[in-house]
Formats: sequence, C-alpha cells, structure tokens
Amino acid sequence: MLENQVNYIREITELIPETAIILGSGLGRLAERVRDKITVSYADIPDFPVSTAPLHKGELILGYLEDKCVLLFNGRLHLYEGYTPQEAVMTVRLAKALGAKNIILTNASGVINKSFKCGDIMLISDHISCFVPSPLIGKNDDSLGVRFPDMSAVYNKNIRTLAKKIAKGLDVTLREGVYVQLTGPQFESPAEIKMLASLGADTVGMSTVIEAIAAKHSGLKVCGLSVIANYACGILDKPLTAEEVAESTEKAAPEFEMMIRGLIRTL
Ligand code: HPA
Repeated sequence: MLENQVNYIREITELIPETAIILGSGLGRLAERVRDKITVSYADIPDFPVSTAPLHKGELILGYLEDKCVLLFNGRLHLYEGYTPQEAVMTVRLAKALGAKNIILTNASGVINKSFKCGDIMLISDHISCFVPSPLIGKNDDSLGVRFPDMSAVYNKNIRTLAKKIAKGLDVTLREGVYVQLTGPQFESPAEIKMLASLGADTVGMSTVIEAIAAKHSGLKVCGLSVIANYACGILDKPLTAEEVAESTEKAAPEFEMMIRGLIRTL
C-alpha cells in the first residue's frame, strides 16, 4: 500500500522533503506560501484516505518554504472521521517514505491549564493518549521500526530548544506543556476536563498523539505545535462551538506561520 503511494508521488516529482508538516484545523493558509509546488489530491493517491473534516482540504503539497524542501499535508486524517488509527497515520508513514527527516505536527486545542491563554501557541513537550487505540497495533512492520518503541522523548529536545529561541526572537509567547488526545468528535464534558487536568494535561484535542507515536516509531524527529483556540469545556460557563475554535485559530495563524517558517529555516 505504502509502496504504491510512494510510486505514485515519485512519478510526479523527485523532490525529497527535509521536513513534513501536518496542518491542523484553520492552519491551512501556510499551504499558499509554498513556492514551486506540486499539489496532489489525497483522492488521487492509491489507497489513501480522503479528508472529510471541515477546513481540511485533503491535499499533499511538495515544494519550497524558506528555500527548504517541504512536504505539507493540508488536511489531517482523524479518528472521528471513521478512519482506523493505522489509516489516520498514513500521512506520517508517507512522509517518512518520501525521505522526510523531521515532522512538525500542528493542531488547534482547548486549554485546560488556566495559566495559558487563548491565542497562545504551545510547544508540545509530552502527550497523553486517552482512550485512543495505538496506530502500532497489529503486525509490526520491522522496516519501519521496532515492536516496542520507546516513548520517553517523543518531542525532539533540540527542536524544542530551537523553537523556544525562535519564539524569543519573534517576541511570540510560546508555552510548553502536555497535550492529550481523545477521539472526539464531541467536545469533552466538564467532568472529563477535570479528569484530564488531574492527569496532568495542559491542552486537549482530537489529533496529533497517534501521529507522534507513528512518527517516533519510524525514526522521524518530531515537533508538536498547538494553537490554543478555546478554553476547554467547563472552564467558562458557556457552550463550545467549532465556529469559535475556527475563528480563534484563524486569529493566531499569522504568529503561528512565523514560528513554522522560523523552524523550517533553521532545522
Ligand atoms: N477539545 C477538543 N478538541 C479541540 C478543542 C477542545 O476544546 N479545541 C480545539 N480542538
């Protein structure tokens, strides 16, 4: 399956990306900045899932950002769309197979840690997978990685140091913390948010952790960046909507883009 996907892309382009980026909800604008790009619809890639989530275009883009060869997935594959964990990480495995060394996983999240604010960007230092099945369940592909991969340092320390330096230079408030993934698509209940707080989570969302697990398994260097879009359920006394999440992610997008560009330049 993966081989067919790689062959399909290789018939179109020889470009070898250094860094792959999975764009989260409302962060798709970065795709417009890629120079000399080749765009491939997910629907045209053999056996590749299509993006059905709102604001997720479903396009693979290979081209140049900051004069570096990059691979963008403009459209994430989520468990709540009905995809298996293995299908949902096909982006990560394709990135590795096309030659990427680094992967930047981006998302919009709800904030649990009350010292963080909406609009802040959080560098993911670690994660919690909560009631989410592992993408590594099933026969292990030994050519990708080991059966029991270590998860003690999923988010690359050097990249995190770099991200902090870049944020300082740009005068961007960069938080650092633990991201928890649930399956969604429903937002959490107040009781669930209390539980997640007691588990040590700073932000919550419906993606990223399974991708980070697959990326670490296959030897990619991982960076996770989360735009804090909203206060998690129960923190404010009002219902949460997808529209609110999209609106605040959009607002934070310019700073977010500067961070990504800075990372691409220096990685
Ligand atoms: N919960 C889950 N996923 C999210 C949230 C949230 O509050 N905000 C953005 N994605």
